Amino acid sequence: MPSNSIDSLLHEDRQFPPSPEFAANSIADPSLYERAAASRVEFWADQARELLDWETPFTTALDWSGAPVAKWFADGRLNVAYNCLDRHVLAGHGERIALHWEGENGDTASYSYAELTRAVKQAANAIAALGVGQGDRVAIYLPVIPEAVIAMLAVARLGAVHSVVFGGFSSESLRSRIDDAGAKLVITADGGWRKGKVFPLKDAVDGALANGTSTVEHVLVVRRGHNEVQWTVGRDLWWHDEVATASTEHEAEGFEAENPLFILYTSGTTGKPKGILHTSGGYLTQVAFTHRNVFDLHPETDVYWCTADVGWITGHSYVVYGPLANGATQVLYEGTPDTPHPGRWWEIIQKYGVTIFYTAPTAIRSFMKAGRQIPAQFDLSSLRVLGSVGEPINPEAWIWYRDVIGAGTAPIVDTWWQTETGGIMISALPGITNLKPGSAQVPIPGIKIDILGEDGTRVDPPAGGLLVVSEPWPSMLRGIWGDPERFVETYWSRFSKDGVWKYFAGDGAHVDSDGDIVLLGRVDDVMNVSGHRLSTAEIESALVSNPMVAEAAVVGAADEATGQAVVAFVIIKTNQKDAHTTDEAVALLKAHVAQQIGAIARPRQIFIVSELPKTRSGKIMRRLLQDVAEGREIGDTTTLADSSVMTVISDKLK
Ligand code: WTA
Repeated sequence: MPSNSIDSLLHEDRQFPPSPEFAANSIADPSLYERAAASRVEFWADQARELLDWETPFTTALDWSGAPVAKWFADGRLNVAYNCLDRHVLAGHGERIALHWEGENGDTASYSYAELTRAVKQAANAIAALGVGQGDRVAIYLPVIPEAVIAMLAVARLGAVHSVVFGGFSSESLRSRIDDAGAKLVITADGGWRKGKVFPLKDAVDGALANGTSTVEHVLVVRRGHNEVQWTVGRDLWWHDEVATASTEHEAEGFEAENPLFILYTSGTTGKPKGILHTSGGYLTQVAFTHRNVFDLHPETDVYWCTADVGWITGHSYVVYGPLANGATQVLYEGTPDTPHPGRWWEIIQKYGVTIFYTAPTAIRSFMKAGRQIPAQFDLSSLRVLGSVGEPINPEAWIWYRDVIGAGTAPIVDTWWQTETGGIMISALPGITNLKPGSAQVPIPGIKIDILGEDGTRVDPPAGGLLVVSEPWPSMLRGIWGDPERFVETYWSRFSKDGVWKYFAGDGAHVDSDGDIVLLGRVDDVMNVSGHRLSTAEIESALVSNPMVAEAAVVGAADEATGQAVVAFVIIKTNQKDAHTTDEAVALLKAHVAQQIGAIARPRQIFIVSELPKTRSGKIMRRLLQDVAEGREIGDTTTLADSSVMTVISDKLK
């Protein structure tokens, strides 16, 4: 977010109450807040019973005796896929469309709930035949195609654990995720469509498995791109051979509510991504509850579209599990917003009559830049609720979103949450809340948020502080895969004491005089680039893995389009200095980062420098580099070991 908009965020006083018409037709129920306040845990237990079908009902809602690892609904049993599929068919909604899929190249497919259920049963049979059962890990590396949803649900149906890896991650990133999770099976595609071209995926899987030491026994390949692929006989299998021929009968077994559902890797403050672990009953309860109430879902009439890739948490919770648990009809789109023309998203909204639209501020800002004449060419009058996620939305973008996309009337819900929280934590409810641009506003019913000062005491509005979740919640992460100590250290060590556990989110926030929460961005070394989390340390270690590089420091610099952008400062080894021109070195290093992590991590700028600003104890002062990267006056340099370094760096960049 451009830093000058922080000021405008702090002084926002425009308010937008729901229109009487919207409020009258909304499912909004103000008593949710009262019921949750009266008994938080009982409230969630009621939601779990109302929103889900249990094979064995639970008797205890929350067991916090193993804090900070929670158990929700632990003696209950359910099947997550059954809750997303079979029960809707049994309730007579088999003909309702679950997915309207639109490929980037113009291919389309639609699945009713009955068809999707059948497809998932077949996939579950095929995957089980490959030896996958409860607790086994399956890596999924697919484009946004129906098979991605089918694969996730088939794995869940077997009580196995999926680890979806975003298709934009490199072979290297995929390898480390497969290895960390010890995956037995990889599900991928030959390739997918992006920006008018087929990008290969199977090649990256081959690369990730090349050293032959992996735990992977089989690779199941969906034919999508029709690009040529290498084939390892015995290991590789075509999806259409295995799945299409499998039986359409499959009885869903109930698993305990705490059975692991998925691992999803996310960037932290150290170089190694963390495998965030989510389980079944609590997760599904909260994503179903929030999807229904935050988006005011009317499953019989709404057409919902969340533009996230299934490789991110938003895709897990608000493309796959929340909408399908609620029996919603949704759009799934494979490609980029501007292919083959800049109005593609709006054309899709018009074509399917989308009523609820959930996207990221970075996308909205890029549409603003392209101009309102592009959406104006399409009929967007079906839209009635708009959502935002991934980073703070600046008031200018909020107002544009409402006026240009939402006809000046659609409510916008700005939803704050994280991979770790599993589901939405802070958001308006559109039929109840007076909306305020730039603010995520209030915790959803049943969630307890506090803003604390550095010393752990609550700050009084309007002071700013650090955002914590003060009570356990159903969709909270249950750990970091294989690293219980890092779990406690990362999230719980900062503010917990005397047996009172407080989850530290890593975000700064401020409460305004109305009691609304305004998010101010990360307070750690995690960057937010186009709504994607990237770690400075991870990119630094990618840079120093290049033989040219002696040292590297990475900062997130404010960027109008992407919120933050990756800016790197690199020292080249003395014996490499003459090997390349500066331009060549910069180009090579940008490509190296993309190859190590993925194109999303490619630095916007790399500055070749001869020194980095360090304290006397040798710590790099990123704050000063950020000043340089954002073109600001350089801040206090008195703690530097050599205070002339910054003059040298900034002179060089002029
Ligand atoms: C940021 C994405 C402000 C925040 C669901 C958080 C937001 C990180 C918002 C999590 C929002 C997400 N307003 N900031 N509405 N939503 N964030 O794990 O910094 O990819 O910690 O989850 O995104 O990113 P993640």
